[in-house]
This record gives sequence, structure tokens and C-alpha cells, in this order.
Amino acid sequence: MKLKSLFSPLTIGPYQLGHRLVMAPLTRMRAEKPSLAPRRLNVEYYAQRATAGGLIIAEASPVAATAFGSPGVPGIYSDAQIKGWRDVVDAVHAKGGVIFLQLWHVGRVSHSSFQPGGVLPVAPSAVPIPAELKTGTADGKSTSYETPRALETSEVAGVVEAFRQAAANAKAAGFDGVEIHGANGYLVEQFLQSHTNLRTDQYGGSIENRTRFLMEVTQAVIGVWGADRVGIRLSPYGVANGSGEPDPMPLYSHVIKALDPLGLAYLHFVEPRSSGAGRAEVNWQNVPSAMELFRPMWSGVLISAGGFTGETADAAIAAGHADAIAFGRIFISNPDLPRRLQHGFPLTPYNRATFYGGDVAGYTDYPVHDELAKA
Ligand SMILES: Cc1cc2nc3c(=O)[nH]c(=O)nc-3n(C[C@H](O)[C@H](O)[C@H](O)COP(=O)(O)O)c2cc1C
Repeated sequence: MKLKSLFSPLTIGPYQLGHRLVMAPLTRMRAEKPSLAPRRLNVEYYAQRATAGGLIIAEASPVAATAFGSPGVPGIYSDAQIKGWRDVVDAVHAKGGVIFLQLWHVGRVSHSSFQPGGVLPVAPSAVPIPAELKTGTADGKSTSYETPRALETSEVAGVVEAFRQAAANAKAAGFDGVEIHGANGYLVEQFLQSHTNLRTDQYGGSIENRTRFLMEVTQAVIGVWGADRVGIRLSPYGVANGSGEPDPMPLYSHVIKALDPLGLAYLHFVEPRSSGAGRAEVNWQNVPSAMELFRPMWSGVLISAGGFTGETADAAIAAGHADAIAFGRIFISNPDLPRRLQHGFPLTPYNRATFYGGDVAGYTDYPVHDELAKA
């Protein structure tokens, strides 16, 4: 069989996967407004991409109303959102799929127009994203990022609690587990990295202190789910959203070694070659491979993502660099991606213009191979 490693079974926590091709978390900005709850269209999108024994990591979902930085993103803090997600989960389960939800707080990657009361977004320290990186306001105007407000020490526990509550909400919605978003320049990573964390309390300074917030969030979420249903995503060597640790090795070695004994469901990397979170067409070459560097420090399941093809995914698994590979962009445009890769069917190219926001177009109207074959 072609791609034998990719299409071999894998156990993640209590779940038996039939193959190792994972759907990466993908923000698509198509939730219902103003509830920011998943709607029928979102149910259809996930159901199209569900396979028996296949793992989907559902898109990053803000843990609180203060955790947003973009419009139309589905939350996981209200009853309407829990109900909307339940419909998504039921549809994926009906096809025999496994589905985790990615828990998100954007920290400084926001704008006051997204914040309740129009206040500044919060972050570990009052360090803005460089002015050359633009963002959008809630009404769609291009603007620079603002300087965020540094969280008071006494406020940090409240943010950890928001993650815990969101994890409980995801459980109420019927998800099979959750993934903590510790990647791509968002709040958890802002605590981890030295240029965004200038704190002098127990959450800043030493690597151990900068890792404290991640560990508290992880322990809180484990308290809800048990470790074997909790994954975590990291992007060492990443530069998304103004992130970037000058010397990632000491920091990420510490983080991964601290997480390893917890018995988590998996560790999930964004490979540095596609660190713009899928924003660039070209993958950078000659950059480190996160899975190869950090695999020796991780004894559990390792998922990697970023610029993989069926062949490179299969080779990475066969070589023992990763246990499963998550696909982003080509899963957007190929709802039947596992089948296409398994049979070597051609792939439909994605349309970047319809990645974020909109409706059916570029979301649920990508054909499966059989429809193409008939056309
Ligand atoms: C439209 C789009 C939305 C994304 N949203 C998320 C997200 O919500 N959470 C996340 O961790 N990564 C997100 N990413 C990054 C992807 O999960 C993935 O790591 C990246 O696209 C590289 O994989 P690929 O080369 O297979 O596309 C997004 C990427 C794209 C293109």
C-alpha cells in the first residue's frame, strides 16, 4: 500500500485512530453573529472532513469574550456556543470521527474594538506587536496593534480559570478532548517568550517562571479532562504574530521536559518552515525541524504540521520523527483529503481569498474526488 505509515492505526489517549492524518486547527471566521456560536454551515464543514477513526482538531475558540482578536470566530464560553459545538461534535461522531477543540486566548493579538467595553487587550507585559504588522478593527479597518495592558499578578488566576471553564464547556459540548493553543504568538506563547514577557513576578524572568502560566493552564485543563484527553500546540522557532524567542532551545527544552511527565494525549508542533500559520505560499527551507529537534525529549504521541504532503508525512512517520501529521490548507480545499492521499487522487488547490470569513464559497463547496470525476 502507498503511504503505509500514514494510513496505519494510532492510539491517542483512550482513542484508537484508524489513520494518522489529522485535520489541523483552522480559523475560518464563519460563526453565527452576534452569538459567535457554530451554526449549520459549520456543522456541514466539519462533517465533510470527518472520517472513521480520523482526528479533527477544531478551530481555535476563544475561552472568554476578552480572548478574541478577530471577527466571526466561534467561542466556547456561552450556552449558545456550547449548543452550536454540540451539533458539530455529533455530526463528526456520526461518521466515527474523533474531535478535539483548540482553546484560545489571543492576548495582545487583538484590538480594543474586539474587547468588551472597548478597553485595551491584556498581555503578560505592555509590549505591542511591531507597527509594521497590521491588524483589523472589529469593523474591518486596517490599523496598527495597540500597546496591550499588562495583567496584574492577581488577574492571572482569572485567565487560568477562563481556560478551565472553557475546557469544562468543551466537555459539556461532547468533545473528545481539548488542545491548549500554546503556539503562533498568542497569550500562552507571550508568557513563554522573553521579548513579550518582561514581568518581575512569579510569571516572568526565569524560563521556569515564564513557563508557569502554561503549566497552570495545563493543570487546570487536566483537572477537567484527565491528561490523556489534553493536547498542547507549540511553535518553537515560530515568528507568527510578532513572536520569536532569540534562543528557542533552552526555553522549549524546558517546556517540553516539564510537560512530558504529565501523560498528555499529545504534543503538537507547527513546523518553523510554515511559521506564518499558513499565511505564506512558500515554506522556508533551511530552518530547524521542530519534530526532529524535540522528539528525543517527548515520550508521548507527537503530531507535527506545516507544509507536509502525503509523501513527506508518510516519510516523517516512517522515520519516527512524528506519530501523526496535521494538514491545514489542503484539508480546506479537499474535504476528502484522507481518501485522496490514500488513493493518490489529485488535490484541489485552495483559494486563499476565502480562508477567513464569508459563507459557503471556499468553505463547504469544495468537491470530493468522486464529484470531480463525474464532472
Ligand atoms: C486559514 C488558516 C487558519 C488557521 N487557523 C489556526 C488556528 O485556529 N489555530 C492554529 O493553531 N493554527 C492555525 N493555522 C495554522 C494551521 O493549523 C497549520 O499549522 C498551518 O496551516 C500549516 O499547515 P499546512 O501547511 O498543512 O497548511 C491556520 C492556518 C490557516 C491557513
